[in-house]
Amino acid sequence: MINDLIEISKEAGELIRNDFGKTHSIEFKTNELNLVTETDKASEKLITDFIRKKFPSHGILAEEGSDVNKTAEYLWVIDPLDGTTNFAHGLPIFSVSIGLMKNGETIAGVINDVNRNIIYSAEKNNGSFANGIKINVSTNSNLAHSLLVTGFPYNVKENPDKAFERFIEFLKSARAIRRLGSAAIDFCYVASGVFDGFWEVSLHPWDICAGKLLVEEAGGFVTDFDGKKIDIYSKRILCSNKLVHQKMIDVMKNI
Ligand code: IPD
Ligand code: CA
Ligand code: CA
Repeated sequence: MINDLIEISKEAGELIRNDFGKTHSIEFKTNELNLVTETDKASEKLITDFIRKKFPSHGILAEEGSDVNKTAEYLWVIDPLDGTTNFAHGLPIFSVSIGLMKNGETIAGVINDVNRNIIYSAEKNNGSFANGIKINVSTNSNLAHSLLVTGFPYNVKENPDKAFERFIEFLKSARAIRRLGSAAIDFCYVASGVFDGFWEVSLHPWDICAGKLLVEEAGGFVTDFDGKKIDIYSKRILCSNKLVHQKMIDVMKNI
């Protein structure tokens, strides 16, 4: 089934690429920071039409609301355009993220890094790949030499879960921090050894599902801020190359 995820993520990436740089009808979701364009919706329609046609018994959990049969044996978890703010402002960092779960466990994940033309893919117990080439997390164990990445939720101004304080502590302890604006790409760059670690609060299942598997299959850890196991509904996500994981937990301990 991984080939189905790859095929449809490529088609969705093409659709998004064709729309990029054009004028968009932008709507607000929860507030003025949280945008949705017609491209998010068109990408979701393309992906979910494909699933409904080819796998009519499968369930769907998708960001823009095309949910069906969420208790089915197989569940597709879809972010049709991750990085909408970047997309709407003309910044070429956005992706398509598709995870496939079987009985509650993620068995496959694909993220299309649209503007770099890279398809990241992973299957349970079979490693992670970038355009078919095996990828691994970084080998750095020194937090002071780490490049980290984070993101902020759309209610950031309310400082949910002390997001600002955590950001400041990591600024002091790591080499540098980036904020790319696509959580799915953040996971891919941990999986491929670019970033040593990534943390964020208030992500959603479609941000987490494929990326978590990609990082784990590349040799990394994905937990909550206490090092405990998470699922796609968890709100505190810490992911790393394993080697700096405990050090990142220690930084967050007193926040
Ligand atoms: C957002 C991006 C961003 C993250 C936000 C997400 P969207 O997803 O992944 O990097 O910081 O928390 O909501 O809305 O562009 O799909
Ligand atoms: Ca997202
Ligand atoms: Ca999205």
